[in-house]
Amino acid sequence: MKKVLILGANGQIAKLVSDNLLTQNMSQRLFLRDSTRLAVKNPQKQEIFEGDALNIDQLVKAMTGIDIVYANLAGNVIQEAKNVVKAMHQNGIKRLIWISTLGIYDEVPGAYGEWNHQQLDGGYLETYAEAAKIIENSDLDFTIIRPAWLDNQDEIDYETTEKNELFKGTEVSRKSVAHLVTTLLLTPEKSIRSSLGVNKPNTDGDKPAWK
Ligand SMILES: NC(=O)c1ccc[n+]([C@@H]2O[C@H](COP(=O)([O-])OP(=O)(O)OC[C@H]3O[C@@H](n4cnc5c(N)ncnc54)[C@H](OP(=O)(O)O)[C@@H]3O)[C@@H](O)[C@H]2O)c1
Repeated sequence: MKKVLILGANGQIAKLVSDNLLTQNMSQRLFLRDSTRLAVKNPQKQEIFEGDALNIDQLVKAMTGIDIVYANLAGNVIQEAKNVVKAMHQNGIKRLIWISTLGIYDEVPGAYGEWNHQQLDGGYLETYAEAAKIIENSDLDFTIIRPAWLDNQDEIDYETTEKNELFKGTEVSRKSVAHLVTTLLLTPEKSIRSSLGVNKPNTDGDKPAWK
């Protein structure tokens, strides 16, 4: 049974992915900063590792015996990306799924692209773009995922765009992104060294409908 390390396991998308995997032939190491925040649902398939992705020693240790890394992080993503790449190298792990955001390549067209810049410039978009560069400049088998603005709709409805395509749509459910991540974890040969935009079809507009 393959084992995934979920970094930022208390994150909203990460928790959905973790639940999806409970019924699959894959075990999980749940890496989070405060272990009291998460309960193991199936001890045969899940274990908790308390750690901070800004601490390289903890990351290296957490990657022992791991086949795939799924990073669902936030905060200082530049340093986190550097640490994840380094720790994966030290452990000889190649496959990484990295959650980023829309707009890191200036790929969001029109009024929505401008609105997105207004919302996310000034520290967020720039750091997520730099972190993605660090991943892309590594020799890892990465998939970077760039979700549209996230909501908690109880639906799986999404399409993807490649790096050199314009971003489509404005919004997507966390459940949809979790479905994409789960699919990639279970078929890790797909979308290697690629960067996927993820959106709900037919949600083009100047901003997400709920904004
Ligand atoms: N909101 C949107 O519309 C939108 C759109 C596109 C992309 N995104 C991005 O998509 C990503 C995933 O989304 P989400 O909703 O699942 O995010 P989330 O719930 O905020 O999860 C992010 C997780 O990262 C963890 N984390 C932060 N720094 C860490 C560190 N140094 N070490 C270990 N864990 C750390 C946090 O841990 P703690 O629980 O300890 O705080 C948190 O659980 C985020 O990066 C988000 O910015 C968001």
